[in-house]
Amino acid sequence: MELEGRRILLGITGSIAAYKAAPLCRLLKTAGADVRVVMTPLAKQFITPLTMATLSKHPILVEFFDPENGAWNSHISLGEWADCLLIAPATANTLAKMAAGIADNLLLTTYLSARCPVAIAPAMDLDMYAHPATQQNLRTLAGRGVHLIDPEEGELASGLTGKGRMADPERIAAFVEELLREKKKTLSGKRFVVTAGATIEPIDPVRFISNHSSGKMGYAIAGELARRGAEVTLVSGRTALPAPLDVRRVDVLSAAEMYDAATAAFDRADGAVMCAAVADYTPAEPADRKLKKGDSDLRIVLRRTRDIAAALGARKGDRLLVGFALETDHEADNARAKLEKKNFDFIVLNSLRDAGAGFRGDTNKVSLIDRAGRTDLPLMSKTEVAARIADRIEEELAAR
Ligand code: C5P
Repeated sequence: MELEGRRILLGITGSIAAYKAAPLCRLLKTAGADVRVVMTPLAKQFITPLTMATLSKHPILVEFFDPENGAWNSHISLGEWADCLLIAPATANTLAKMAAGIADNLLLTTYLSARCPVAIAPAMDLDMYAHPATQQNLRTLAGRGVHLIDPEEGELASGLTGKGRMADPERIAAFVEELLREKKKTLSGKRFVVTAGATIEPIDPVRFISNHSSGKMGYAIAGELARRGAEVTLVSGRTALPAPLDVRRVDVLSAAEMYDAATAAFDRADGAVMCAAVADYTPAEPADRKLKKGDSDLRIVLRRTRDIAAALGARKGDRLLVGFALETDHEADNARAKLEKKNFDFIVLNSLRDAGAGFRGDTNKVSLIDRAGRTDLPLMSKTEVAARIADRIEEELAAR
């Protein structure tokens, strides 16, 4: 009874996969959940309210009010009631409206006012699913923290074969159980250093050399480790982000400052996650006054910075060290070389080639690589990527 006492609002939209909402509802009920169902008007054409009312043991909600007696179906109280809003199946139309903030039915208004976690199980034809508009909407939603239950490949109702079939009800129910499982303080007593953001290397008091890193990935990891009870020192280069809850943030500017702060904090730590985009070169002699422009070219001599990750790797002993690699070519080979060179336990590879991965966005698509092999994760929000990395860190610590 994994879902005992949990309140799940099941949203059903107008897809042929709506028939699978019936076994899904049963699975959730059998796991102990209280399930209420909101349907879009079109969903009623695919599965009857009577079926869903019988299975959920509650009247079905479709309209903003009951036309018979004027009783108001408050989307606000529905959103407050739920521990989780699960939209399964979610059509391309509903996804697009969710991404745009359109609120023209009860399900959409409930989504906009819900404070609980939201999960969506898309279901549509393969071309609709692959369409850039749909993919963009999914990225937007994932970036806002909506949990995506990937559709499966297979034969579709259209007779075509491809990706777009709604995940099996068993998979969806398991996903919701995992989502609602109380996060235990699985890392309490552990200390971590996380580096994040871009370093700034001064050319003169006004100009600098830096890079596009937003710091979002590292901040998400620091926040996730802290949520699991770890004591986290976040050594942060320049970002516009607020410090995550319960994290000690040390602000630095240059690679040299980051080196000092990270190595000092590592002495007392059980592990480190090297997320920062550290400059490899810094102006050898930064000017102490603003450089004046002249008519000829300007040459700045750059000197190598110290590699913080490699320095921690060289002295890590039995501490855990996690690195990142952002590659544009020969991704896996380069990542594996870094794993060895810097003595990482595992490395998180993100490729700039993947849409939705990389610097400024809220989503990422990564692979976790260690000496035993490689795990490719699907596109997800940086918060979810952080949770998967934290899971892996827990596994590594448990195996010691
Ligand atoms: O060699 P490369 O810079 O691609 O390696 C990336 C990994 O090394 C990241 O984990 C990054 O945070 C870390 N790194 C570092 N100090 C440097 C350069 C990279 O900690 N000076």
